[in-house]
Amino acid sequence: MSFAGNALNLKILYMDTIDWKCLPFGYFKTDYNIRCYNKEGNWGELEESTSEYIELHMAATSIHYGQQAFEGLKAFMGKDGKVRIFRMDENAKRLNSSARGLIMPEIPIETFCKAVIRVVTLNKKFVPPYGTGASLYIRPILIGSGAQVGVRPAKEYLFMVFAGPVGPYFREGFNPVRMQIVRDYDRAAPLGTGNIKVGGNYAASLRAGERARAEGFASVIFLDAREKKYIDEAGPANFFGIKGNSYITPDSVSVLPSITNMSLRVLAEEMGMKVERRHVPVEELEEFDEAGACGTAAVISPIREIVDRLSGKVYSYCKDGKVGPVSLKLYEKLKRIQQGEEPDPHGWNYILD
Ligand code: PLP
Ligand code: COI
Repeated sequence: MSFAGNALNLKILYMDTIDWKCLPFGYFKTDYNIRCYNKEGNWGELEESTSEYIELHMAATSIHYGQQAFEGLKAFMGKDGKVRIFRMDENAKRLNSSARGLIMPEIPIETFCKAVIRVVTLNKKFVPPYGTGASLYIRPILIGSGAQVGVRPAKEYLFMVFAGPVGPYFREGFNPVRMQIVRDYDRAAPLGTGNIKVGGNYAASLRAGERARAEGFASVIFLDAREKKYIDEAGPANFFGIKGNSYITPDSVSVLPSITNMSLRVLAEEMGMKVERRHVPVEELEEFDEAGACGTAAVISPIREIVDRLSGKVYSYCKDGKVGPVSLKLYEKLKRIQQGEEPDPHGWNYILD
């Protein structure tokens, strides 16, 4: 449990109130989580739990061989007082893609969605109020819980979902961040697991990420592992660049298919922009008018500076200190849909009863 989570929990216990505007992106204890067990290929019923802990066999495949995957999605309180969960069916599909990647059992989309809806409903008092900039972050996980000592998939699995209120992922919030291109670490191999959401990718990103933070950057930008010629993605988010009327984002086998990016591409197209999903050579950074990172946790994080750690070359954006107009427009549009302030023509929101 993070210190910040503890402190905020004490506040809610003793003051029955919370400073929603100051929430960090971190763990926050809430009342309930949902669990579902798979034995010999069959999923059981969804179960409610108030415990923050799981009992796990010491030989579980998740803790030895990394047989685990997770998701991240958000619920928002609208101006109309209704809670909206954003594109949970896409998270369900992606978790199943991760499950296939690590030979874990897939979860019926309906079961995934029921678990998410239940966790949000049971923890509704933790959905941050409209206008605070905070949201309820929902974290589904799927882990091999059965024992194996040989390298083989488990025969038992646990799917669970917890949730907690969060503020911005990068402490800069929507203020432009600095990012660092690294060439001496890879997050994922071209034929590895970069395109699924599994813990091993994040473990592989830790050393570069911690070094970048110590050197004054919000995050790392990884390059394609084979040639180190193209932008892959940021540690916890996809990359996009704006050039004239084009929204450009890397197409790479080792990038996580971001649901935020997928949504921004639709919005950009609807705004009359050209959307390009292709290799993005590092040198092209010079030609972008704006650059940003996008993801559920990061939302849109405008980038003000990218420094290539090896060469020292600097790419600058937001030259007047302001977020670029296209990033701002995309951010506003997405937020307004998520908060029910604009029509949701694609049916991205699930509205809680
Ligand atoms: N890339 C990585 C490595 C991530 O961890 C995330 C976060 O989930 C994203 C991209 C953004 O994906 P999404 O927009 O679906 O949250
Ligand atoms: C998310 O955006 O949901 C993520 O999973 C990013 C990070 C916190 C791992």
